[in-house]
Amino acid sequence: MKVMLTGATGLLGQHIMFELMAFYKKDLQFVLVGRGKKDISFRQRVETILQASPNKHVHGIEDVKGFIRHHIDFMDVDFSQKDHSTIISSMQVDLLLHCASYLDFRSNESAQQKLEQINVVGTQKFLDSLQEVEIGRAMYVSSAYVAGITEGEVYPDMVGWGAFRNAYEASKASAEKIFQSWVQDRQISNWTILRPSTICGRSIHKPHGYTTKFDVFYGWAQFFSKVQSKDSIRIQFNKQSGLNIIPVDVASQVIIRLVRSDVQNINFLHVVANNEYAHLAYTAELLKTVGFTNYMFSGLNSLDELNQLERVYYKRSVGSVFTPYVINPATHFVQDPKFMSDFTMDEDNFQRVISYFKSILT
Ligand SMILES: NC(=O)c1ccc[n+]([C@@H]2O[C@H](COP(=O)([O-])OP(=O)(O)OC[C@H]3O[C@@H](n4cnc5c(N)ncnc54)[C@H](OP(=O)(O)O)[C@@H]3O)[C@@H](O)[C@H]2O)c1
Repeated sequence: MKVMLTGATGLLGQHIMFELMAFYKKDLQFVLVGRGKKDISFRQRVETILQASPNKHVHGIEDVKGFIRHHIDFMDVDFSQKDHSTIISSMQVDLLLHCASYLDFRSNESAQQKLEQINVVGTQKFLDSLQEVEIGRAMYVSSAYVAGITEGEVYPDMVGWGAFRNAYEASKASAEKIFQSWVQDRQISNWTILRPSTICGRSIHKPHGYTTKFDVFYGWAQFFSKVQSKDSIRIQFNKQSGLNIIPVDVASQVIIRLVRSDVQNINFLHVVANNEYAHLAYTAELLKTVGFTNYMFSGLNSLDELNQLERVYYKRSVGSVFTPYVINPATHFVQDPKFMSDFTMDEDNFQRVISYFKSILT
């Protein structure tokens, strides 16, 4: 099995890499596409990830250096570079899995430019660079939120043109279009756009809750862990709805199940939990976790006369990116019966996925 993977240094990409290693072992050949940072080469970055103690038991490869030597080819590509138009040399891969992306939920000009550069132009250039590569199957990791602001049942091919919350969602929708027309041109019939919901730390593999970054609701909680102000804050969200949260190892296992299967006609797949977990439940738990008590939940009431803390929250920090995700009516991301996550977020599972975050706080 030869897999070309982008985004292997990221949260989801590395877990996809681990699961592929754990399943195919010595039958796996990787072509990893990514970049070095500062003084560390791309190869060294991947080696550090594979050698790290939270990860070794997940991929199960003892001799990491040997595996890298014999089973991984590294291609240095930075999607933000204007001139990354090198043609990747002629080869055959069974699967191309494009997982790399820039994640930024702000809508300021510099975020928009980077999202366009990396997610849209970068995807186009990368796919164009594969002219000489023979590809059996192709997958693009998009986002469930490409459906935009909607309600009720959401099918995995829905696109919310005109109803996106931010430039990130728009960039993922544009990249999906690019990917679709590319598979058509290349006559790759076996292709899938994967759409995960909100990805959090692990729930299967220990350490539970392990994540490479504290974004999404962790980042939200971190904001409150640092508040110095004596102001109280009114936090807006819809008390009738919630967030669909899927642990990274559950998400990568759903994806690997699809990779391993012979099913050909799944062009769009939700990689999501079975349920929305109420905003009321996880926000209260997170605030308790970080010891922040000076708040009230204001539901969907509009807020007049923001105090200074509220101005920081809603205008300049986490509230500005979080609020668009928590004020909408309930939605249900419909799963494919053959590739269900079988994961339901509840109180116990939420405790599990925040345990690593908690351990870092104390
Ligand atoms: N996290 C979520 O909640 C979530 C939800 C739905 C969908 N998704 C999608 O899932 C995928 C993985 O997300 P993630 O959370 O794992 O993201 P992540 O941890 O931020 O990782 C992003 C990956 O993309 C690579 N990348 C970013 N900019 C690049 C560039 N200019 N050149 C080369 N590589 C670049 C990063 O490489 P470096 O390490 O070099 O920066 C990293 O490997 C993305 O497509 C994302 O849109 C994520």
